[in-house]
Amino acid sequence: MSNSAIRSIPDLAEAMPAVAKIASPALREAVLATWGTSLERSPYEDLAHSPQAPHMPSRPLILHINEVNQRALDLLRVATEEYGLTADADVTLATAILHDVDKPMIYRWDGQDFSYSDGRSLKDHGAVGAELCLLHGVPLEVAEMVRHHSAFASEGLPGTVEGTIVHYADFVSNDFAAILSGVETIHASTRPVPKNSARRS
Ligand SMILES: [Fe+2]
Ligand SMILES: [Fe+2]
Repeated sequence: MSNSAIRSIPDLAEAMPAVAKIASPALREAVLATWGTSLERSPYEDLAHSPQAPHMPSRPLILHINEVNQRALDLLRVATEEYGLTADADVTLATAILHDVDKPMIYRWDGQDFSYSDGRSLKDHGAVGAELCLLHGVPLEVAEMVRHHSAFASEGLPGTVEGTIVHYADFVSNDFAAILSGVETIHASTRPVPKNSARRS
């Protein structure tokens, strides 16, 4: 990825290399158009300034998106080659790329304070992205997974191969970044697991 600002559709395509791995040209175009509109409707001149999460606001969202995309590709290989499962690669990849597409419109970060855009809160995350997906011709199956992916805002992803891949890709990407940033992981915040060490006496 170059160091220039991420503003246009070609910039987005370059900044998210996984888009090129979507086989369907129409889906590639719809994915990029959805991201382009999210950026247009956000206050950010450059996607690199849009924050990843309320508990890691100084970490750019684009890092998380590419981490999730790469983990989804890894898990697609594991599911199909190691388990012999069948997965729709385009649906999986498009969902991974788009799952957090609404964050630039919802999250606000000025370099100091994190907040939400007017009238928005964490419970809007997913639903706003799904509506934007549908507006740009993203298939309903992908849009509905975007709508439900957040366990904080909705019921979470379905127990299909595609849903399972994106769930774990998203959570491990979030949680490794959380450990790196010194904040609590999602899996530890949502379950009564030991917080500091796996060792027990
Ligand atoms: Fe999310
Ligand atoms: Fe995410």
